[in-house]
Amino acid sequence: MCGIVGYIGEKNATPIILNGLKKLEYRGYDSAGLAVLTNGHIEVRRDAGKLKNLEQLIMEMPVSGKMGIGHTRWATHGEPTARNAHPHLSSSGEVVVVHNGIVENFIELKEELLADGLKFQSDTDTETIVLLVEKYLKGVNDLETAVRKTLERLKGAHGIVVFSAKEPDKIIAARIGNAGGVVIGLGEGENYIASDIPAILEHTRKLIFLESRQMAIVTKEKIEVSTIEGKPLAPQISSVAWDPISAEKGEYRHFMQKEIHEQVRSLTDTLAGRVDFEEGRIRLPQLNLTAEQANDIQKIILTACGTASYAGMVGRILIERIARIPAMLEIASEFRYSDPIVDEKTTVLAISQSGETADTLAAMEEARKKGAKLWSIVNAIGSQAMRIADGYISMQTGPEIGVASTKAFTAPLVDLYMLAILLADLRGTITPEYRKQLVDDLRLVPELAGRCLDRESEVEETARLLKDTRDMLFLGRGINMPIAFEGALKLKEISYIHAEAYAAGEMKHGPIALIDKDMPVLAIAIKDPWYEKMISQIEQAKARGGIVVAVATEGDERVASLVDRVLWVPEVPWMLSPVITVIPLQILAYHIASLRGLDIDQPRNLAKSVTVE
Ligand code: F6R
Repeated sequence: MCGIVGYIGEKNATPIILNGLKKLEYRGYDSAGLAVLTNGHIEVRRDAGKLKNLEQLIMEMPVSGKMGIGHTRWATHGEPTARNAHPHLSSSGEVVVVHNGIVENFIELKEELLADGLKFQSDTDTETIVLLVEKYLKGVNDLETAVRKTLERLKGAHGIVVFSAKEPDKIIAARIGNAGGVVIGLGEGENYIASDIPAILEHTRKLIFLESRQMAIVTKEKIEVSTIEGKPLAPQISSVAWDPISAEKGEYRHFMQKEIHEQVRSLTDTLAGRVDFEEGRIRLPQLNLTAEQANDIQKIILTACGTASYAGMVGRILIERIARIPAMLEIASEFRYSDPIVDEKTTVLAISQSGETADTLAAMEEARKKGAKLWSIVNAIGSQAMRIADGYISMQTGPEIGVASTKAFTAPLVDLYMLAILLADLRGTITPEYRKQLVDDLRLVPELAGRCLDRESEVEETARLLKDTRDMLFLGRGINMPIAFEGALKLKEISYIHAEAYAAGEMKHGPIALIDKDMPVLAIAIKDPWYEKMISQIEQAKARGGIVVAVATEGDERVASLVDRVLWVPEVPWMLSPVITVIPLQILAYHIASLRGLDIDQPRNLAKSVTVE
């Protein structure tokens, strides 16, 4: 969950690394640091807290050099202090390392190193890595061999970048398992290393992604990739088309606000090239799906974490309703411990913005072991979840920087809808007329999303009403039940208000006891097949003195007369309604957090991509 940047070339590494870390701060903001090679020795600057503290430190104690590595941390072992901040130096000061992941056999390795007389200067597991390299260097005297020997000793998943003052022409990067990516960026007479593409995108679009158990020796002139065991590999160079501008905040106060507003474009982009409105057909070429394979599927298991899992809940309904294939959602962190009933007739569909979430990747691996076909819906290009799947759908939304996911929630909702239509088409279980109607409905989506965004100031007024509440209930039914969960999650994670979501019909079985004047209720009550039931739910809440805010269809006076406030959304076909109903909830959470003066893009305790299990 940490961010890593490295540079080797002719320029000053310090601003390049700091700039890269800025793009990665969403991955962890407990501390930040960098190490550069200056006049034959390694200089480290690091500090607790956000990157601005490190920037301040470097202003006071400038440092420059032509190669270096940097890190932004999400703490696992050891408190978020300066002493535990990366990079970590060996005791001789000759070797330096930054690391993403957890050394699972850290205690055992630490005892061994202490017995060898080595001293620890931090409480981190990462320090065992640099001390092991130092230990092995004594025997072999070359960094590459010492790093290989070290990697063989580590349990767990890791991304590691290391260099030595004695070998000033190279940086070594390695990946083991799924602790996040390691990507090498190719330049002219210079090369870059990063955990995530946005960190180096302004410098290069030519990238090499390391797979698990691969290592790269990066000099300014060339890159050599091999397995950790030393077998040379021919690296595959990919090009990415992401626009670096979309990784900037622009006129918005926060990335989250910008990304909410980007949804008109991101929804348009996720449709681009995939919808044939003339023929009423969907094309998802990267899924590599034939009619024979589609007919072979007996069950689809959707798996994901957090917000992505709520997209999966909607997807489950769409796949069953449109394609008539039995579908279920299994939370990725539970999947592999549930002894899932999965075989070669099962397709497991993982949904992940980052494509690097450890739980989701573990679920995919478990599914693979059991013989399932693997698909993914992923935003981060080149990520592990994209690479290990048999087929994928790219969200095509551009980088999402705000920790609270917004545009990477609505895009997969559309992708899942398209997937359901494609499956139904290939299996011949849909009439051409119905298929055409479903495809036609997609045309409306970006514009309807735009109409929700136009109502931002009305939602902001409701945010003022709710900003001091301590608790809140979110209710929805049917296809909008997952949106109640997503609305509650958005509020919890950025405003720290306790929010719970329920399938509205469950209220009478217990939770209704919670409702009083201090427990506002947000009810999604649009004109969908569950409308009448939601009206009863609202009436029950009002009868108990609750403040009710409803998400309702424009012009619905009946709902308006029942509730305290309305968040209006345009009329929308019910199967696409989650894409629309979630937008006022994103805006509401954003403005409540903003009115409470909170750090919206970097909420406490969170990181953008969760690469620990
Ligand atoms: C919440 C949020 C998280 C992620 C979850 C999965 O706003 O962003 O709940 O959805 O951590 O992340 P990905 O989609 O990267 O696998």
